[in-house]
Amino acid sequence: MADNKRPESMERITTSELAQQFIDEQIKALKEQIGDGKVLLALSGGVDSSVVAAMLIKAVGKQLTCVHVNHGLLRKGEPEQVIEVFRNQMNANLVYVDATDRFLDKLAGVTDPEQKRKVIGGEFIRVFEEEARKLDDIRFLAQGTIYPDILESGVVKAHHNVGGLPEDLTFELVEPIKFLFKDEVRVVGKELGLPDGMVYRQPFPGPGLGVRCPGAITRDRLEAVRESDAILREEFAKNGLEGKVWQYFTVVPDFKSTGVRDDKRSFEWPVIIRAVNTRDAMTATVEDVPFALLQHITARITSEVPGVNRVLYDLTPKPTGTIEYE
Ligand code: XMP
Repeated sequence: MADNKRPESMERITTSELAQQFIDEQIKALKEQIGDGKVLLALSGGVDSSVVAAMLIKAVGKQLTCVHVNHGLLRKGEPEQVIEVFRNQMNANLVYVDATDRFLDKLAGVTDPEQKRKVIGGEFIRVFEEEARKLDDIRFLAQGTIYPDILESGVVKAHHNVGGLPEDLTFELVEPIKFLFKDEVRVVGKELGLPDGMVYRQPFPGPGLGVRCPGAITRDRLEAVRESDAILREEFAKNGLEGKVWQYFTVVPDFKSTGVRDDKRSFEWPVIIRAVNTRDAMTATVEDVPFALLQHITARITSEVPGVNRVLYDLTPKPTGTIEYE
């Protein structure tokens, strides 16, 4: 697998100059590989697929079609940002598929975490396949494979759920960032002019908010996850914790407890806040978030998020807790 080994001569991309040089070389290589062919890309809005999209737009423009599948488990504002950046600002061919109902209908009543992942991954492939079949003459499939994906699997593994397409849908792969490490992808993304919110995003699991709504996902509890997550991210950004804390999010467990609101008893969900730091996600420590900030976030969540009457802070490192709840 010689072509899957990062060339020893390749310098680590740490500066804007090195990123620009990499972009120029890759654009030339992409033009050579693709010629006048058509390329398809599953664009999640994560940093890897966004960098690949931005490079391909520069290299082959409208020969690229990006497909953004909204599985209903994205964070607040994410699909809108993908549309704004790629369709409106970069003038890309972008197919936006709002498949929320399909995914949530398939997930109804599914409680087992692995089964939930299978449903989400399987449905993603089916939606992507349907969109691919609507397009004529696509020869290439672009993927945001990065070097850790290759190192982890020994062979290039399908990245971001695009693997597993039926055999009659065969494409030549285009993988312009397959020798980059994550920090290098971010430097290149910044140089390509992608917004900081995309470039410095915290890790977000493929099954999205689905793993933060433990047990069977319901639309109302999922909305409580999405809204509380948005408040947490906004407050962390305002208070200088964005980019400093490795991963932070909220979870809404499937139980209710008694509270009091407007002098009446309430029976509503708790929101759990998790904020952790790690190097490699194998172990993690809990961020020491200032107590006053936690109180402020609690006040906002309990007053702004429907169906929530308590907020808890998770003090558990990994081990014994994993980072996610499922
Ligand atoms: P855990 O929960 O195992 O998570 O401590 C470690 C890191 O992996 C992310 N994670 C996932 N990422 N698909 C993904 O793409 C998944 O199914 C998945 N599960 C966990 C998690 O967010 C954390 O960064």
